[in-house]
Amino acid sequence: GGPETVSPTGQPTGADPARNAQSGAYLTTAQGARLYDTDHSLKAGPRGPVLLQDHHLREKITHFDHERIPERVVHARGAAAHGVFRGYGSASNISKAAFLGRDVETPVFVRFSTVLGSRGSADTVRDTRGFATKFYTEEGVFDLVGNNIPVFFIQDAIKFPDVIHAGKPHPDREIPQAQSAHDTFWDFVTLHTEATHHTLWNMSDRGIPRSYRMMEGFGIHTFRLVDAEGATTLVKFHWKPKLGTHSQVWEEAQIACGVDPDFHRRDLADAIESGAFPQWELGVQTFPDNPEQMFQGIDLLDPTKIVPEELAPVQPVGLMTLDANPSNYFAETEQVAFHVGNMVPGIDVTNDALLQGRLFSYIDTQITRLGGPNFPQLPINRTHAPVNDMLRDGMHQTAVHRGVAPYRPNSLDGGCPFLAGEDTRAFVEVPAEVAASRKVRDAAASFDDHFSQPRLFWLSMSPVEREHIIAAYTFELGKCYEQAVKERGLKVLARIDGELCARVAAGLGLPAPEPDGPLVDSDPSPALSQVGALWPVD
Ligand code: HEM
Repeated sequence: GGPETVSPTGQPTGADPARNAQSGAYLTTAQGARLYDTDHSLKAGPRGPVLLQDHHLREKITHFDHERIPERVVHARGAAAHGVFRGYGSASNISKAAFLGRDVETPVFVRFSTVLGSRGSADTVRDTRGFATKFYTEEGVFDLVGNNIPVFFIQDAIKFPDVIHAGKPHPDREIPQAQSAHDTFWDFVTLHTEATHHTLWNMSDRGIPRSYRMMEGFGIHTFRLVDAEGATTLVKFHWKPKLGTHSQVWEEAQIACGVDPDFHRRDLADAIESGAFPQWELGVQTFPDNPEQMFQGIDLLDPTKIVPEELAPVQPVGLMTLDANPSNYFAETEQVAFHVGNMVPGIDVTNDALLQGRLFSYIDTQITRLGGPNFPQLPINRTHAPVNDMLRDGMHQTAVHRGVAPYRPNSLDGGCPFLAGEDTRAFVEVPAEVAASRKVRDAAASFDDHFSQPRLFWLSMSPVEREHIIAAYTFELGKCYEQAVKERGLKVLARIDGELCARVAAGLGLPAPEPDGPLVDSDPSPALSQVGALWPVD
């Protein structure tokens, strides 16, 4: 559709709908004056010089000079699509969120991305993939800002700048490829061993998806759902692709990087254009909201840990279908602004220290990236719910706010808008207890276990998947210049599995070190009871 004539507050802006349509019989300036020539500058004679007086020349070039906006500091390269989410109603007993209701249809916009590469980097690199969904619900925007790997590198957002600096290209050479910063990346993940689990997923086939349409998505953190009575349930969100989860092999991925760096965005757009609409089922793993925030010995506030589906099955709650490509990459895919703090009644956060830092970071970065605080007014970011806030002014304000008293209570603007009470549809934070404690920077002792879940993952792999992981570690560590980093990498592998360590060491031409701590030695398959035995339950 064309530009809106109504502001986000429902006020008419007075704009003519055709104003920015870039169509019509005559070419005009941005101010609407008709042009007779846009190919020749105004000059003092046919051989120049060019006159400063040429306001059309200056407007045209000035606007062009400012076309680019900063790329995202992470997840700069992405592709997106529109679609619809239909709730099954199966979650209505644990969340009052209206969009989860039976057969409720909610428009969505999904952006898939790589993490480390710049906007112009290749699609099929080995990296984590972003999977961010904006639900335009009738109760406001809900953003599920997840990845295709169910755990994260770090446990606390304060390390996020560090892990990203370690993974981005080196400051001197700026070689623009994910994980080309081999020494710093491997230095970081072997010194901060909580990254072992995520890194192992990266080195597995999950790090090189075949298609965005064939990826799982994970909310990673534990969230808190709230029902109509205020009862709470802890959950982890999962997206399951109807097409199944598939990967490329390394050789395919490398060739695709060269012959078609747009492989994933082309695949997504082509599929949708041809009517092969990709679908994902949204599901939740549920856990009792106990004061410890633990489930069978697994710390639910530690984003480097999963809860195996054998212990907590994923229960389907709705279906998402992507059925329309963006019509303008910049307006939609580039200007969309996701934020984990965009929540609706029925969904709340937990104390996960990674999540808590994200609650600050997204709006903050978008103020720079999108030029001020009014980016929620951009068409792709606008809620489909009525807005009646008390915000005013700011860079790029497009609403024409009326009234003299943007505060409440007030006695001048005809009274005050209603504030929804707790029994209505307001977003009310769960009054969860905060443990009486001293201020500390230490994490819980359960955060010190960095190796039992990587070992669980390794033991769950088939022989061919293990071969791929061994080859990936050998290739990636082989690209490090520093011997000490390679050796530390092998020490980490020794804590996961002896064979994995020995095979990678052989590939690197180095001796395999002994593990400097105990291996968790149960085989998780096939009995579920043994899965639980993998964790040092205290
Ligand atoms: C962007 C996921 C942790 C800061 C993104 C995007 C995704 C994502 C999918 C891209 C959104 C888009 O397509 O526009 C995650 C996940 C995390 C995580 C799953 C951990 C579970 C963090 C942390 C921070 C952070 C800890 C900071 C403390 C950012 C920033 C952006 C971003 C600054 C760019 C946003 C923008 O420019 O619009 N993240 N992230 N992320 N993330 Fe995260």
